[in-house]
Amino acid sequence: MQIYSSIPELRAALKNRGRIVFVPTMGNLHAGHISLMKEARAHGDTVVASIFVNPLQFGPSEDFNSYPRTFDADCQKLEAAGVDILFAPTVKDLYPEPQEYVVDPPAIQNLLEGEFRPGHFQGVATVVLKLFNIVQPAVALFGKKDYQQLMVLRNMTRQLALPIEIVGGETVRAEDGLALSSRNGYLSPDERAEAPRLHRVLTRIRDAVLQGERDFAKLEKEAAAELDSHGWQTDYVAIRQQADLQPPQSADIPLVILAASRLGKPRLIDNLEI
Ligand code: PAF
Repeated sequence: MQIYSSIPELRAALKNRGRIVFVPTMGNLHAGHISLMKEARAHGDTVVASIFVNPLQFGPSEDFNSYPRTFDADCQKLEAAGVDILFAPTVKDLYPEPQEYVVDPPAIQNLLEGEFRPGHFQGVATVVLKLFNIVQPAVALFGKKDYQQLMVLRNMTRQLALPIEIVGGETVRAEDGLALSSRNGYLSPDERAEAPRLHRVLTRIRDAVLQGERDFAKLEKEAAAELDSHGWQTDYVAIRQQADLQPPQSADIPLVILAASRLGKPRLIDNLEI
């Protein structure tokens, strides 16, 4: 695997590499990332990954400085997963001057995650558009665990007519159901034992909806109350339309249940499509 931090060197290395498939990450890679890297191989000729902890997408009280950085271990995993090229710029490489031109996503950026992380999706969309311009992939893969992020990036790609196919990879879970996330590493052993409750409450809501329950507000409230009574601080449990993440106009369309809740230090997110 070749590793580049400089944009001109990466661009030179990407000449004549056929159809480029890109998997952007912030590092601290787990099996969820690795499954995206392996899936990437099927979509083109050259698999490019990036590792960049993007300051633009962290709020002032968030964990930018303490976000786990595990570069050497990440490189070994990427190499083993068959990644051809890793782009790992420093903040100065990617933002040599203050990033004043930004992508400002529409109202979807203020829903759900956006309500609790103002500016987050502007930071994500800006860095991803910049990475797309640098790597110029034909295909890019993102995990469905960050469901709203995937939707923001899909919509950006479509509306700005970027010639890139966006592929969503399925969430990878531990045996007990916990969605894999770099932030799971912040959990104490007791919290780790408690954490699968998030997936359990989502599964229970999905089963109730499939069995005909239509009082969505009640399902959301009960799920948040269950989490909070077990030591969580829940930001939201929400049943939404898959198409636009708005509250459902009907129960007979594809729905998704999304949740975000803090357990100890980490704020965990998860979702389940119905
Ligand atoms: O999902 C992530 O790891 C990040 O939000 C992304 C897409 C790499 C942008 O920094």
